[in-house]
Parts: sequence; C-alpha cells; structure tokens
Amino acid sequence: MAANWKMYKTPRETEEFLRVFLPQIPSGLACDIVICPPFVDLPAAAALLSGSPVGLGAQNLNENAEGAYTGEISGAMLAAAGCRFVVIGHSERRQLFGETDDRVNKKIQAALKNGLTPIVCVGETLSERESNQTIKVVERQVKGALENLPSAEVSRLILAYEPIWAIGTGKTATPAQAQEVHLAIRDILKDQYGSLISLGVRILYGGSIKPENISELMQCEDIDGGLVGGASLKPESFLSIVNFDSKRLAPR
Ligand code: PGA
Repeated sequence: MAANWKMYKTPRETEEFLRVFLPQIPSGLACDIVICPPFVDLPAAAALLSGSPVGLGAQNLNENAEGAYTGEISGAMLAAAGCRFVVIGHSERRQLFGETDDRVNKKIQAALKNGLTPIVCVGETLSERESNQTIKVVERQVKGALENLPSAEVSRLILAYEPIWAIGTGKTATPAQAQEVHLAIRDILKDQYGSLISLGVRILYGGSIKPENISELMQCEDIDGGLVGGASLKPESFLSIVNFDSKRLAPR
C-alpha cells in the first residue's frame, strides 16, 4: 500500500503523522507500506522511518543525472535522501505538467539506474472510458513507459492503474472495472516478457481508495495493492487501509 501525499504536509506535519502511524502498524501485516511525501519532507520522514518496515518514496524525479534544471531533483538525490521508491507518470504530472510516455520512460530508466523502484502510473480519462478507449490508452501508456527496458528491469517495477475520473472524486472504479484493466495490463506484460515476469510485477489500483472499499478491491485477482491519495493523509484512515481484511484474499 503506497501513500501519495501530493502537495500536502510540512516536515512537522509529516513527523506528527509518523509518530502516530508507526507504533500502530501490526506485526505480520499482509502488505508492504510505502509513504511518498513532498520532497522537503523526505529528511524528516527518512529519520523516523529508518529501522521501520515502511519504505520511503518520492512523487517525481528528473530524468537527467544533474545539470542546469532549476527546481528539479535527480534520482541520485532521492536515493541519497533515503528513498527506495519513486512515483512516475502520475496523471497529475501528465495532465498539469505535460509529461509524455517518452519522458516517463526516461524517468523510469533514471530511477532504476539509482536503485529506486518506480511506481509507474497509467490510466484513462472519463471521455476515453466513455468512448471505449480504456484498454487502448492503458496499453499505449504501459508499452511507452517500458520501451527498451530489459526484462530484468521490468521485473523490478511496480505499476499503478489509476483511472483519472476516479482520482480525488470519490468515484472508485468498481472491482470489476478495475480487475478488467489490471488483467489487460498483466496480459500486455505476459505478451512482452513472459508469464513469470507478468505475475511478479505488482499492479496497484488507485483512485478514491478508502477504508470502506479496500477489501473488495483487494479481492480481485490482479489487484496487488493500492496507491492512496486523500485517504492516506490521516493516520487512522491509512491504518485501516493497510489493515484491510486479507483473510478474504484467494491465493493466486
Ligand atoms: P485519491 O488519489 O486516493 O485521492 O483518489 C490517488 C492518487 O492520485 O494517487
């Protein structure tokens, strides 16, 4: 379960969250946890997360190693700040900051080069869904993101399917809608890299995940976890999400 805090929380608010959240994580949890705060909160989060089972992630990186790129942050900087994960190609970055599939591909390579696990986001707009373009759009995004990556690298990725119409809107995809796209992504991976890799890549769902809907989403065979925005900002709410009812999961 990965928390995407977007542009919320100062370093002090990050500390306050973690001081409440960390002691309440039960041992033997059924999932891994990653928290992705804003860049300036990373040092505060890294200090509190060291020695805990929770991984630290960033929400973006620049694809270049270094240089005159005012305002940007490199993969090496993130790794040095204690990150093990980085969200890449979130729809907000694609829509508001013009990120293309090609740029997403370069960012993935930069992340992998620095030992970071990319959490690569894909997903369709409402009009694309309504015109039956969902699978086509997601296929283009997945193939574009992974272009020229060797299989060994693909197996290190995490993908996140986030239908744009479900992000921050309270409208979650139904488990059936989400499962259909997750299966399509799994099939694309299988076609290109074989079953072993396709089964090993974790595919998260994101878009209005809440404590009330996480268990039913997690029951879908091809949903391996969640990328959680709004509902990850309060410790109690994110705790109920990481404590989803895993007893109902069928083994794959
Ligand atoms: P949301 O955001 O959970 O607030 O819908 C998810 C995301 O954008 O990653």
